[in-house]
Amino acid sequence: MKTRLVGFLFFFPVSLFILSTEAQMPGFVSLDCGGNRSFTDELGLQWVSDDQFIYGETAYISASNETRRQYMTLRFFPADDRKYCYTLNVTSRTRYLVRATFLYGNFDNNNVYPKFDISLDATPWSTIVISDANTAEVREMIFLALDPTISVCISNATTGQPFISTLELRQFNGSMYDTDFENQCYLSVSARINFGAPDETPVRYPDDPFDRIWESDSVKIANYLVDVAAGTERVSTKNSIFVDRDDRPPQKVMQTAVVGTTGSLTYRLNLDGFPGAGWASTYFAEIQDLAPNDVRKFRLILREQPELSRLVVNILENAEGKFRLYEPGFQNISLPFVLSFKFNKTSDSTKGPLLNAMEINKYIKKTDGSSDGAIIVSLVSHYSSASWAQEGGDPCLPVPWSWLQCNSDPQPLIVSIHLSRKNLTGNIPPELTKLNGLEELWLDGNLLTGPIPDFSGCPNLRIIHLENNQLTGHVPSSLTLLQNLKELYLQDNMLSGTLPSGILNSNLVLNYSGNVDLHKGAKGRNRINVITGASCGVAVLLIMIFVACLLISKGRERDTNEKLSEKDCPGNVLPVQKQPSSIGDTATEAAHCFTFSELEDATNKFEKRIGSGGFGIVYYGKLKDGKEIAVKVWTSNSFQGKREFTNEVTLLSRIHHRNLVEFLGYCQEEGKSILVYEFMHNGTLKEHLYGPLTEEQGLSWIKRLEIAEDAAKGIEYLHTGCAPNIIHRDLKTSNILLDKNMKAKVSDFGLSKVAVDGSSHISSIVRGTVGYLDPEYYITNQLTDKSDVYSFGVILLELISGQEALSNESFGTNCRHIVQWAKLHIESGDLQGIVDPSLRGDYNVQSMWKIAERALLCVKPHRDMRPSMSEVLKDIQDAILMEREAEAAREGYSDDISRHSFHSSMNLGSVDLGPPDNCLSFDETLALPTAR
Ligand SMILES: *[C@@H]1O[C@H](CO)[C@@H](O)[C@H](O)[C@H]1NC(C)=O
Ligand SMILES: *[C@@H]1O[C@H](CO)[C@@H](O)[C@H](O)[C@H]1NC(C)=O
Ligand SMILES: *[C@@H]1O[C@H](CO)[C@@H](O)[C@H](O)[C@H]1NC(C)=O
Ligand SMILES: *[C@@H]1O[C@H](CO)[C@@H](O)[C@H](O)[C@H]1NC(C)=O
Ligand SMILES: *[C@@H]1O[C@H](CO)[C@@H](O)[C@H](O)[C@H]1NC(C)=O
Ligand SMILES: *[C@@H]1O[C@H](CO)[C@@H](O)[C@H](O)[C@H]1NC(C)=O
Repeated sequence: MKTRLVGFLFFFPVSLFILSTEAQMPGFVSLDCGGNRSFTDELGLQWVSDDQFIYGETAYISASNETRRQYMTLRFFPADDRKYCYTLNVTSRTRYLVRATFLYGNFDNNNVYPKFDISLDATPWSTIVISDANTAEVREMIFLALDPTISVCISNATTGQPFISTLELRQFNGSMYDTDFENQCYLSVSARINFGAPDETPVRYPDDPFDRIWESDSVKIANYLVDVAAGTERVSTKNSIFVDRDDRPPQKVMQTAVVGTTGSLTYRLNLDGFPGAGWASTYFAEIQDLAPNDVRKFRLILREQPELSRLVVNILENAEGKFRLYEPGFQNISLPFVLSFKFNKTSDSTKGPLLNAMEINKYIKKTDGSSDGAIIVSLVSHYSSASWAQEGGDPCLPVPWSWLQCNSDPQPLIVSIHLSRKNLTGNIPPELTKLNGLEELWLDGNLLTGPIPDFSGCPNLRIIHLENNQLTGHVPSSLTLLQNLKELYLQDNMLSGTLPSGILNSNLVLNYSGNVDLHKGAKGRNRINVITGASCGVAVLLIMIFVACLLISKGRERDTNEKLSEKDCPGNVLPVQKQPSSIGDTATEAAHCFTFSELEDATNKFEKRIGSGGFGIVYYGKLKDGKEIAVKVWTSNSFQGKREFTNEVTLLSRIHHRNLVEFLGYCQEEGKSILVYEFMHNGTLKEHLYGPLTEEQGLSWIKRLEIAEDAAKGIEYLHTGCAPNIIHRDLKTSNILLDKNMKAKVSDFGLSKVAVDGSSHISSIVRGTVGYLDPEYYITNQLTDKSDVYSFGVILLELISGQEALSNESFGTNCRHIVQWAKLHIESGDLQGIVDPSLRGDYNVQSMWKIAERALLCVKPHRDMRPSMSEVLKDIQDAILMEREAEAAREGYSDDISRHSFHSSMNLGSVDLGPPDNCLSFDETLALPTAR
C-alpha cells in the first residue's frame, strides 16, 4: 500500500479524488492544502491537492524538524469579514473524525502569528492561536453526520492572515463514539494518550485503521502529563491483545503501559476546551506476568469527583483474562481545564495500578444553522459552477455569505439577497419566494427570463430590484399583497399587460419604464399619482381598499374581551395598523379578500364537498394560478357563528407557522361568510387513525410521532410564539390536517381565544369537544393553555392506541373515555394492552413508553401538574430519536451491546456526576446516569 501507488499517482493527479476514496480506507479524505499534486505518504495515506478550491492563495513554507510533504504547503485567505469553507462529502448517519492542522512556518514573512476561528457547519469549533512558527496546531472533532456534506470554515481573523495546512476526514464504522447526545453535540478531541510508549512517535494509521493519533506519553510538551509519580515504570509486551473490535484502541497502543510500582500513578495535563462536560474512557489490559497470589486492584482518584473513587478496577477480572481489553468510561463527566488524576492501589492489592491508554473528548453543542438553510442550498444548486454559489457552510453562521444578510435570530432568517449582475439565467429561482424573512431582493442586471413569481411568501419584502433583465408576462397582483413594499424596480424588462391597480394606488416607489408592452391600466381614478423613480412616504391607502372590500355590518356591538391587542407575533408579517374600529376591521389588516364569483369559479359552483362540521361545509377548489384550496362556507348566521368567523379571520391573519394550516383569505358577500385555506391533500388525522383510510395505509409509529411533533410545534407556537398567546380550545384529531407530504398542520381556530396576560381566562360558556375537553376547565370555566395540553394528551393516547377518544364499546364496561382506559393500563405496566394492534409490534418500546408516560401527564386532572407544550414537544422529539436509532440499529449500526452495558454498570453505582455544563445543560435528563 505504501509505495505501490506513488508513481501512478504522480502522473494522474486528476483522477485522485476517486482513487483516494477507493484504494484506501473507505471514507478517508486527506487534503493537502496548497499542494500542487497528489502523493502517498510514508504511512500509506493518499493526499490530494485542494486545487479545486477556488478561494485563497497558496504558499510554500519550511518549518524546522518538519519533513512531511503535506506541511510544505498551505492555503491562506484574506483577513476579511468572510468565511472560507471546505465542504466534504460524507455518508449520512455515519460517524467521522475530522482533523484540521495549521503549521504557520512564517509563510507570509511577517512573523505575525495568526489568530482566527474555525467552525464546523454553523457551530463554532475552535480559535486557532499560533504561538510558534514551527509547531502545528491540530484540532480534531468526532461527529455523527446527519447531512450529506460537512463544511469546515475559517473566519474572524483577528491577527495575521488565516490559513490551513491539512484537512483530514476519517470514517468510523463502529459505535465506539456512539453517545446519547450525538444528535445535538460534537465531540472535540482533547487528549488521546498512549501510555508507556517506547518513543515520541504517535501511533496512527495503519496501526489504527481509523487513523486516530495516539500521542506518546513521552512527548515533551508544556503541561502535558507532568507531576508523574516516582516509581512509574514503562512496561510492554509482544503478545497480541484482544481488543475485540477495530474501533477500540489498536493493539500497538494496548501493548504498552505504565505501572505505578510504589502504589500510585499520577498525572496532570491541560485539557483543551475544558472545563465542561466530556466523554472519557480509560483502557486497560493486563500485560504483566502476575504471580498466582498477586492482585492488581486500584481506584481512580479525581479531586473534583470524589464519588468516582468508589469504583475499583481489577483488570484481570473485568477483562476476563490476560491480554484482553477492559475499557471503563464515562459518557457524561464534568472535567476541569487542569486535570490531575491519580490511580491508587487498594489496600488488599499487591501490585500497583497499570494504565495503557486514555481518551478524553469534550461535548460541543451544535449550533442550529439558518432556518432558511435548506431553501438556500436548493437555490445555489442551480448555479453550482458560479463562485458565489460555492461559499459553503451555513449561509448565516458563524458569519453570512458575502451576498446575503441575516437577522440575529438564534436560527437566523435571510433578510437580504444581493445577486445583481451575476449573469443569472433562466427563471427567477422559485426558492426566493420561500424566504419568509426576506426584506431586500437585488436581482438587477442579470439575464433572467420568464414571469415574476408570487412573492406573497415573503411578506416583509421592502425593496425589490428586478430591473435590467428579460422578464416577461404581466406584473402579478400578488405584489399588492406585500404591505411593506416601498420600492419596486421593474424597468428595462419585457413585461406586458396592465399594472395591477393596487400597485398604482399605493405610495410605492415604482419604476416600470422600458417595458414596451406594459401599461398603466384603464381606470384613471387614482388619487395618488404613480411616481416613477421618486420616493414616497408610508403606504396608507392599502388599508382603505381592504376595508372597502370587506362588507361587514358596521353597527355591530364591540366585544372588548375578544379584541386583539395590537401586538403581533414575533417575526410576523403583518404591519401593525392603528385604531381598528371593530374586530372586523382588525381582520382587514392583512387578510386577502376573495370575491364570491372568484370562489364560485374556483370550486366549480361548490361542487365537491370534502368535509363538514358544526360551522358549515368545506369544498375543494382550484384557483386560476393552479393553487388548490379548501373553501369553508359558514352556515351559521347566528351572532355566535359570525363571531367565530371573525375570530378565525382575525387570528389567522396574524399567525403564521408551517404547522398551522395556511389561511389564504376570506369572502363576505351575498350573506355568505367564507374562509379560504390551503388544501390539505391527506385529510384529517382522524381519518388516518380509525377512518376508512386505515385499512390501506395505516400510519407507522414513527409517522405518528412525526405528526405529533408537527402538531405540537404548531400548538407550541400558539402558546409561546404569539403575543398575546393563543389558546386553541378545540384540539382534536379531526382538526389536525395532513398535507401532500403527510406533514401535519393544526386547523380550525373558530373557538380559539387570546390568553389574557398569560393568566387564566374566565368565560361564561365552556366550548370545545367532548372527549377532548379539559375537566378542570369544564368545572371552573377557567381557560389556560394547559387546556390545550389536556386535549393534546388525548390525541397522543389516540396515536398510541388507534382508538377514538370516546367509545361505548372499546374500553370495557363502565369506561367510555380513552383517558381512564389508557391510564388503567399504563399505570399497571400493561402498555401492550393499549397499543394499536395495526402497528403489528413494529415500534421501539422505549419510545412508546416515553409517549405513553407523557400523555398521562398531559391528562392529569390539575393543570399545574401538566407539562407545557414545549416540554411535550421535546419528549416527542426524544422519542423520535429513540425510534430512529432503534431503526438504525435494526439496520446494523449499533452493534455494540457490551459497551453500553458497561457504561451503565459503571454509572449505576449511583455516581452523581454533578450538573453537567455547556453542551449538556440543555437537557435535565442528561445529568442522570445513563442506563440503557
Ligand atoms: C510542487 O510543490 C513542491 C513542494 O511541495 C515543489 O518542490 C515543486 O516545485 C512544486 N511543483 C510545481 C510544478 O509547482
Ligand atoms: C529539531 O531537531 C534538532 C536536531 O534533530 C533538535 O536539536 C532541535 O531541538 C529540534 N527542534 C525542535 C523545535 O524540535
Ligand atoms: C461530492 O458529492 C457530489 C454529489 O454527490 C459530487 O458531485 C462531488 O463530485 C463529490 N465531491 C467529491 C470531492 O467527491
Ligand atoms: C472574533 O474573534 C474575537 C477575538 O477572538 C472574538 O472576541 C469575537 O467574538 C469573534 N467574533 C465572532 C463573530 O465569533
Ligand atoms: C493514595 O495512596 C497513597 C499511598 O500510596 C496515600 O498516601 C494517599 O492518601 C492515597 N490517596 C487517596 C486519595 O486515597
Ligand atoms: C458575466 O459574463 C460576462 C461576459 O461573459 C463576463 O465578462 C463577466 O465577468 C460575467 N460576470 C460574472 C459576475 O460572472
